Amino acid sequence: MTGSSRGLGRAIALEFAKKGYNIVVNYRKRESEALETLRQIREFGGDGFVVKADVSDPGQVDSMFKEIRDRYGGVDVLVNNAGWGFLAPVETMEDSLWERHIKVNLNGVFYCTKRALPYMLDNKWGRIINITSIAGIRGVRYLSAYSAAKAGVIGFTKSLAQELKHTGVTVNAIAVGFAKTDMGMSFFKALNLDLERFLEKYTLTGDLVDPVEVARLVVYLASDDARNITGSVFLIDSGQSLAYDPLDLVQG
Ligand SMILES: NC(=O)c1ccc[n+]([C@@H]2O[C@H](COP(=O)([O-])OP(=O)(O)OC[C@H]3O[C@@H](n4cnc5c(N)ncnc54)[C@H](OP(=O)(O)O)[C@@H]3O)[C@@H](O)[C@H]2O)c1
Repeated sequence: MTGSSRGLGRAIALEFAKKGYNIVVNYRKRESEALETLRQIREFGGDGFVVKADVSDPGQVDSMFKEIRDRYGGVDVLVNNAGWGFLAPVETMEDSLWERHIKVNLNGVFYCTKRALPYMLDNKWGRIINITSIAGIRGVRYLSAYSAAKAGVIGFTKSLAQELKHTGVTVNAIAVGFAKTDMGMSFFKALNLDLERFLEKYTLTGDLVDPVEVARLVVYLASDDARNITGSVFLIDSGQSLAYDPLDLVQG
């Protein structure tokens, strides 16, 4: 579970814990939050360990997978959840900011997938679930780098599903809308958006996405029941992709 120290990643880890999975809690910076995820995993009946690795760095991803092999012998389910986004207009965006978005949100998915696949192919069974965003489907103003990376994840998912034909390994993506996590709330804060107005005008359900909703779909996609679902992109977005432009609410 990449990026499971908090947010969607933690919620997904806890749903897997309820099914008794061993979970690798990956994080980049916040060790104490990762340990809190692990504590809650154990409370829910699962087990696991925490591993610090920046998914944008192939060397760190190698070390993480070596530790996973040494402890568990391999990987059955990979959830590529770690992600990051920052608002910036294209005209003035530093090249390094663009590159960082692609490295974390797209390269990280490739690095982890490539290293998990050999175990899955050997077992003739595996599940890869990529967390992407509606930004990768409809685009979001000032989130071009993030949107490009998240659209890349969708292309990667569909191509890989074809590459994995008849292998027992499936790969799917979930495109999430604004959700109740640190990342989701930081956009509202950065833009000084009125949450009530956003919910009224730019969602069809009147609520932000609850991480548990995403977590339950991930666990379903990881199950045997979902063996004929591959190459699919699911939207969980409160209807946001059909009617929203949060930046319309920015004053001035
Ligand atoms: N929240 C939303 O509104 C929303 C909407 C659409 C899509 N998404 C996508 O959903 C996923 C989860 O988002 P979230 O809202 O849960 O975000 P969040 O609350 O900001 O949590 C991000 C998680 O990813 C980890 N992370 C960030 N960069 C990393 C890196 N380079 N290597 C390894 N781990 C890294 C963080 O670790 P640390 O705690 O150590 O920093 C943290 O565990 C992301 O892919 C995001 O793009 C979110």
